[in-house]
Amino acid sequence: MSNDDSVKSLQDTLTERFGERLPVDASLAGLAELAGIAGHRSYRRFLARPVTPDLLRLLCACALSAPSKSDLQQGDIVIVDDKSVQKTIAAAITDMPWIAAAPVFLVFVANGRRAPAISKLRNKPFPNDHLDLFFNAVVDAAIVLATFIRSAQAVGLGCCPISAIRDHAAMVSELLALPAKVVPVAGLCVGWPAEQRDITARLGLDTTVHRGRFDERDLAAKIDAYDRRREAHRPFARQRDPERWGQAPFYGWSEDKARQYAEPLRADFGAFVRAQGFRLE
Ligand SMILES: Cc1cc2nc3c(=O)[nH]c(=O)nc-3n(C[C@H](O)[C@H](O)[C@H](O)COP(=O)(O)O)c2cc1C
Repeated sequence: MSNDDSVKSLQDTLTERFGERLPVDASLAGLAELAGIAGHRSYRRFLARPVTPDLLRLLCACALSAPSKSDLQQGDIVIVDDKSVQKTIAAAITDMPWIAAAPVFLVFVANGRRAPAISKLRNKPFPNDHLDLFFNAVVDAAIVLATFIRSAQAVGLGCCPISAIRDHAAMVSELLALPAKVVPVAGLCVGWPAEQRDITARLGLDTTVHRGRFDERDLAAKIDAYDRRREAHRPFARQRDPERWGQAPFYGWSEDKARQYAEPLRADFGAFVRAQGFRLE
């Protein structure tokens, strides 16, 4: 792609994403990479074409090249190469058939186990068994996940993260033999895309980028504006839980998220994390 093409692609994509045309300096290096990052979308349909083990390993290496808190390297990847395990996980999540169909299924885990193990190996105390151990490991795993997705998309693969595995955290942990202080953060479907996806609009940058100090002035108006912009671009195909909430005359993103979170979700996850040996104090 020429630099001019990258500038146009980047600007067009970000306008679709944020409803704002951003100036881009055409002399910047790396604009094709930025256009790739800006063009992110999740894919849920895949070709039967396999992802070779060499490519998968290459992508894992790129993902694990991500920055890591204190260089502690607490995000790990489990390649679910036993199709019967993938199918068992998929069978528990009936509304996401893309899990069973994905040529590759990965689970990104927070590993709070290795750091205390190293302290023990080196005969040192480990007075850091508290919430921060869990938090750091989850952050590392999430960064590895995001970097994997970016790497996979760079070679033309499509991905879909799956947090729904945490609805079955104990089962997934048992299937993958996750020991104490290792918890699943998200699954990831990976494959060669068999569908065209469009850009998902995001909240305006005036909502999510704060300058100098946190600022949530005019939140209601900004959310309304986002709902309308998103509706014009990709209206919701159906309303969530109409038996409980009725049919809304205008059904925007915020109505959908409010309905989604009107249900208790994963209220037992804290108990699971504690049972896996993390102390959250
Ligand atoms: C941590 C995480 C967990 C997710 N879990 C699921 C999931 O369980 N099932 C699913 O279909 N998509 C899942 N997604 C994908 C989101 O639904 C998707 O990123 C969002 O709708 C925005 O669409 P886009 O990625 O195409 O921009 C997840 C994404 C992230 C980052």
